[in-house]
Amino acid sequence: MSQATITRRYRFCAAHRLHTDQLSAEENWATFGKCNNPNGHGHNYVVFVSVKGDIDPSTHQVLDGQRLDAIVERTVVQRFDHQDLNQDVEFATQTTTGENLVLLIWDLLVKEIPAGRLVKVGVIETRDNYFEYSGSAEGTRKEHEVRHG
Ligand code: NI
Repeated sequence: MSQATITRRYRFCAAHRLHTDQLSAEENWATFGKCNNPNGHGHNYVVFVSVKGDIDPSTHQVLDGQRLDAIVERTVVQRFDHQDLNQDVEFATQTTTGENLVLLIWDLLVKEIPAGRLVKVGVIETRDNYFEYSGSAEGTRKEHEVRHG
C-alpha cells in the first residue's frame, strides 16, 4: 500500500522572554540580546505537523484531518494561545527558545498520535526563524524521560 505524508498548519500567539537563571544578567543579555528584555515580547507562532501513513483505499487519504486538528487544538493551541510561555510548567526550568518549544510540541503530540506516524514538527517563530524536530516516533525524547523519571 502506498504511503504519503500530510502536513497541516496551526497558529497561536504567545509571549515569552529568553532568559536562564544559569547565566548572569550580563551573560543573558549577551546571549539573547533584545529577546532578554524583562518585559517580554510576543510572536505569532506557526506550527507545522507532518503525519505519514498508508493511503486509505476508500478515502484516498492518509488521515482524518479533523481528528488531527482536534488533537493539535486540544494539546498545543489551547495550551499556548495568548499565554506567556515562560509560565508554562514545562518551561519552569527551561528557556523558551524555539528549539525547546518545538521539542515540547513534539513530546505533547507524539503521545496522542498513533505510534510511528508523527514525522516532523516545525515551528515558525519570526520571519527568519524556523525550527523543526523529527524525533523518535516510538516515544518521547530521552531527556524528557530522564527529567521526569
Ligand atoms: Ni522571541
